Amino acid sequence: MAVTGHPPRVLSGMRPTGRLHLGHLHGVLNNWVQLQHEYESFFFVADWHALTTHYEDPGDLDENVWDMVVDWLAAGVDPGRATLFIQSRVPEHAELALLLSMITPLSWLERVPSYKDQQEKLKDRELATHGFLGYPVLQSADILIYQASYVPVGEDQVPHVELTREIARRFNYLFGRDPGYVEKAEAAIKKLGRKAANTYREHRHAYLERGDQASLAAAQALLDGLQNIPLSDKERLFGYLEGGGRLILREPEPLLTEASKVAGLDGQKMSKSYNNTIALRDDPKRVEKGLRAMPTDPARKRRNDPGDPEKCPVWSLHQVYSDADTKQWVQSGCRSAGIGCLDCKQPLIDAILAEQKTLRDRAEEYIEDSTLVRNIIADGCERARSVAEETLEEIRRCVGLDYY
Ligand code: TRP
Ligand code: SF4
Repeated sequence: MAVTGHPPRVLSGMRPTGRLHLGHLHGVLNNWVQLQHEYESFFFVADWHALTTHYEDPGDLDENVWDMVVDWLAAGVDPGRATLFIQSRVPEHAELALLLSMITPLSWLERVPSYKDQQEKLKDRELATHGFLGYPVLQSADILIYQASYVPVGEDQVPHVELTREIARRFNYLFGRDPGYVEKAEAAIKKLGRKAANTYREHRHAYLERGDQASLAAAQALLDGLQNIPLSDKERLFGYLEGGGRLILREPEPLLTEASKVAGLDGQKMSKSYNNTIALRDDPKRVEKGLRAMPTDPARKRRNDPGDPEKCPVWSLHQVYSDADTKQWVQSGCRSAGIGCLDCKQPLIDAILAEQKTLRDRAEEYIEDSTLVRNIIADGCERARSVAEETLEEIRRCVGLDYY
């Protein structure tokens, strides 16, 4: 059975946005680096997903892909532990997305929040396309093809993982029943008596078709409360409630990645669109200059005006980079005007520059010899393909494509 027989897997993807910044490091990347020690991990560049919105001007896609992979490696993602690959080089994702599209109701896709939100946001692009509507189906295929248990994502992506669960459930419902399974379950339902049988059917339908958790719970409670039916029937009816006898596709769970709170150089949230980022491998002079000029609590107009770290974007960086003693020193020094803002920034500048050096050192060999990165990705793609092919073979059999 495809679902079992391997340790829990983690899978996540990133659209190729080019050079990553400290927000990515303290949000997503450090998390990946942790996870790779705990799980069998698959991390990939979602280049097809980039095309769903930027099909007209792929622009620097090529450069963005490789820059991003070098940043992953610089951050400590370890190709000896995790499988790193590029989506479009594992065409099995596309085949699964196509097959899943057959069973995915249009209404499920139309109600995914990002569909309308992104159309609003990217007004200058035509996004009423088949490809963009199908974005979450492709994402579901990305996840399901590896039978991933966990999908680390930011909050905005949680609806996509939820949809993935619904698609998996529907697939299992349609194709996961063993011969005779339905007949036996239906016979057991009849033995419940008319009233209980109807209630059971209604709840089961609501759960399987719409994923209504309350209905699942209600039906389980109904079964629990029944005294005089054989245990074997009871067990069968519990299983039947959740779709069928066999789980072909695993329902993944999102692992919510906290959005990083690090402020950018202008004091707003660090983001490429605000042009206020510190890149992972930035120029040390630029970083130092930028940090020295970074805005602080506006109450500290002069050196002896006291301030409040809670009102200062620099404090968000201390929270990430400084130990307890330094943070204490900032808190009291700021509030008593005992330290100046440049004093306050110095330990931060030191910490960030030291971190950047580690990252640059790790990246150096990959920049010098780009075949290293290409080989890492080639190995990753090969490994990903062999896992993907295993799932896909079973899926093809399930949907009836097993005659060649
Ligand atoms: N849609 C995700 C994003 O924009 C990227 C992505 C594509 C992804 N496929 C995935 C993330 C599968 C997790 C799992 O961030
Ligand atoms: Fe911000 Fe530090 Fe200046 Fe206080 S002392 S306002 S925390 S930079």
